[in-house]
Amino acid sequence: MSFMKEWKRSSYCGRVSTEQVGETINLMGWVDNRRDHGGLVFVDLRDREGTVQVVLDPNQGAMKIAKDFKHETVVAIRGEVKARPEGMINKKIPTGAVEVLAETCEILSQAETPPFQIHSTNVSEVLRLQYRYLDFRTPKLTNYIKTRHLLMQKVRQYLTENDFFEVETPILYKSTPEGARDYLVPSRVHQGHFFALPQSPQTLKQLLMIGGMDRYFQIARCFRDEDLRADRQPEFTQIDIEMSFVEAEDIMSMTEEMLQKIWKELKGVEVTEIPRMTYHQAMDRYGSDKPDIRFGLEITDLKDVAGSMGFRVFDDCLSSGGIVRGIALEEAHGFSRGKLDKLTSMAKKAGAKGLVWIKVDESGALTSPILKALGEEKCQKLFSALTDAKKGLALLVADTYDTASNVLSGLRLHLGREFELIDTSKDAFCWVTDFPLLEYAPEEKRWVARHHPFTMVKDEFVDNLLGDKQNQSPDTYLAKAYDLVCNGYELAGGSVRIHKNEVQQEMFNLLGMSKEEAEAKFGFFLEALKYGTPPHGGIAWGMDRLSMILCGTDAIRDVIAFPKTTKATDLMAKAPSRVEQQQLLELGIRLAPSVEKKLAEGESTPVDNEL
Ligand code: AMO
Repeated sequence: MSFMKEWKRSSYCGRVSTEQVGETINLMGWVDNRRDHGGLVFVDLRDREGTVQVVLDPNQGAMKIAKDFKHETVVAIRGEVKARPEGMINKKIPTGAVEVLAETCEILSQAETPPFQIHSTNVSEVLRLQYRYLDFRTPKLTNYIKTRHLLMQKVRQYLTENDFFEVETPILYKSTPEGARDYLVPSRVHQGHFFALPQSPQTLKQLLMIGGMDRYFQIARCFRDEDLRADRQPEFTQIDIEMSFVEAEDIMSMTEEMLQKIWKELKGVEVTEIPRMTYHQAMDRYGSDKPDIRFGLEITDLKDVAGSMGFRVFDDCLSSGGIVRGIALEEAHGFSRGKLDKLTSMAKKAGAKGLVWIKVDESGALTSPILKALGEEKCQKLFSALTDAKKGLALLVADTYDTASNVLSGLRLHLGREFELIDTSKDAFCWVTDFPLLEYAPEEKRWVARHHPFTMVKDEFVDNLLGDKQNQSPDTYLAKAYDLVCNGYELAGGSVRIHKNEVQQEMFNLLGMSKEEAEAKFGFFLEALKYGTPPHGGIAWGMDRLSMILCGTDAIRDVIAFPKTTKATDLMAKAPSRVEQQQLLELGIRLAPSVEKKLAEGESTPVDNEL
C-alpha cells in the first residue's frame, strides 16, 4: 500500500502548532535526526519550514522501518498532534510545544549517507558548493533564498504600484561595452558572428524610453567576464530601472522610497534621510567612492603641515602634484614592530612607495621611522595635525591622489575591522554624486567612460564638450551620475542619459571612437536617438548585494542559488566543460593548436577548488 496514493501532505513540518493538537496530520519530509529511547524512536522531521519531533513505536506494524530511518531519508508520516508536557517544551524551535505521535509511516526515498552532515559547521564551502542541493537544506540557505524571494516580490509590488512596466530584454544580444569583457555566444546560422550576453540591458532600456514606455524595470540577468571578488559574480542580477522626463533628483528620491519600503517591510527598520557627498568629498574623506560611513577614522589632508617641514619625500611628492594625507587611531597599544611592518607591506601591496607611521604611546614616547630625519617636534606636529589625542598611531602616505586614497582607504577598513570600530548593528547608506565623466586609460592611451558612454555630462560642461574643449580639459568634466552605497558596498548606480544624437556622437568621439566604429557598434542606437527621445535616466541595483546586506552575510555566493567560484566555474555541474567536436564544427569554430595541446596533456581543467 502506498500512502502517497491515498493521502496528501496536510502540513509543513515546521508549521505544526498547538492549534492542531488532537488533529491527525500527514507530514512529509527529510529525517533530520533519529534517537532511540526506551523502545520508541524520536525523529526530527524536516522540511523547508523547519523541523518537528515525531514519535514512532517500531513495534507497531509498518513503523518497524523507523528503526532504519537514516539521515536525509524522505519519509511520510501520519499521526496525531500532541501537546508536549510543560517541562518537555523545546524553546529552541517554533514547533517545540508539540510533537506528532505517528500512527503509520512510509519511506518515500531512501538516502545514501550524504558527503557531509547537513548541520555540521566543519564543512568546506567547496564541498557545500559541489552539493549545493544539500546545502539548501540548512536553515541558513533556506532563509537566504526566502529573503531574496520576498525582496523580489516587494520590488515588483513597489514598482508596479508606481506605474513601472516589467519588460524582459534579450540575453542573446550585441556587444555594448560597459567596462568588462563580454561573454560571447557563437552563431551557428551566421558562422563567424557572435552574440554577446548583456553586461546590463543599458541600451535596451534606453530604447524602451525612446519607444515611449515611460517607466521600465526588470529583474535582469547580467554577465561580465571580469576579475571576481567577494561581492562580484560573473553572472549576477540587477533591479534595472529607467524613467522618462526626469532629472537625477527624481530617480534618487524614487530609489530612496523603494529602499525605505524594503528595509521597513523586510527588516522592520526605518531608513531616514540618506546623506549625500560628491565623489571628490568621498575620496577626500574616505579614500573611496564607496565609503563605509559606519565609522569615522577619516582621512586628513596634510599638505600645509607636511609641506612646511623641509622633508624631501614630502616636498618631492607635493611639487609633482601628489598629496600627503593620513589617518590616526587613538590607540597605540598593540602596535608592535611586526604589526607596523604588516601595515607597511599592506600599503605597498596597494601601490604605495611606503608608509610613514608615528606612534605615541601612553607615556608620551614617540617612535617613527622618520624620527631621525625630522626630529621629535616635527613628528609631533604631523601627529597632532591628524588627531587631538595624546597617544595613538598616525599613518601617512605621500603619493599620487589615487594611490594615496586607495592605500588609506584599505588601511582605514582594515583598522576599522581590527579595532571593531564598525557599528555592525546598523546599515549606513549614502549617495555619492558628481562622478568624473571620464577616466584616462594609459594602456589604451584614451579616455574611457567612468560609468558608461551613455551618461550625461553636467550642464556646465555641455558647451565645452560640444565646442573646442579649450576651456576645460575633459578630465574635469563631471557626470550626472550617482551611486547608492551601503556599508561600503556599491549597492546601486545610475545616471541621467544623453538624449541627443549630437551629444552622444561627441561622447563616442571623445572616447576615441571613429565615426565608422561608432556606427558599427552603436549605429542602431544613434539612429534611434534621432526619432524623438525623451530626456531620461535610470539606475540599477545590484540585487545580489542587496540580498547580501539584507541577509547579513558578506559573501555574495550565499545569496545566489547556484553561484560560481572566483574562477567563474560551477563546482556542482562542473561548468564550463568541453563540447563535442561536432558542435564546434557546426559553429565553424576550431580550437587553437596551443589549446588543443594543453587539453591533450590534460592541463587547465577548469574545475578548481578556489573560492
Ligand atoms: P553598474 O555597472 O554600476 O551600472 O551596475 C549596477 C550595480 O550592479 C551591481 N554589480 C554587480 N553585482 C555583482 N557582481 C558583479 N560583477 C556586479 N557588477 C555590478 C552593483 C552595481 O551598483 N547599466 C548601468 C546602470 C545604469 O546606469 O542604470 C550599470 O550596469 O551593485
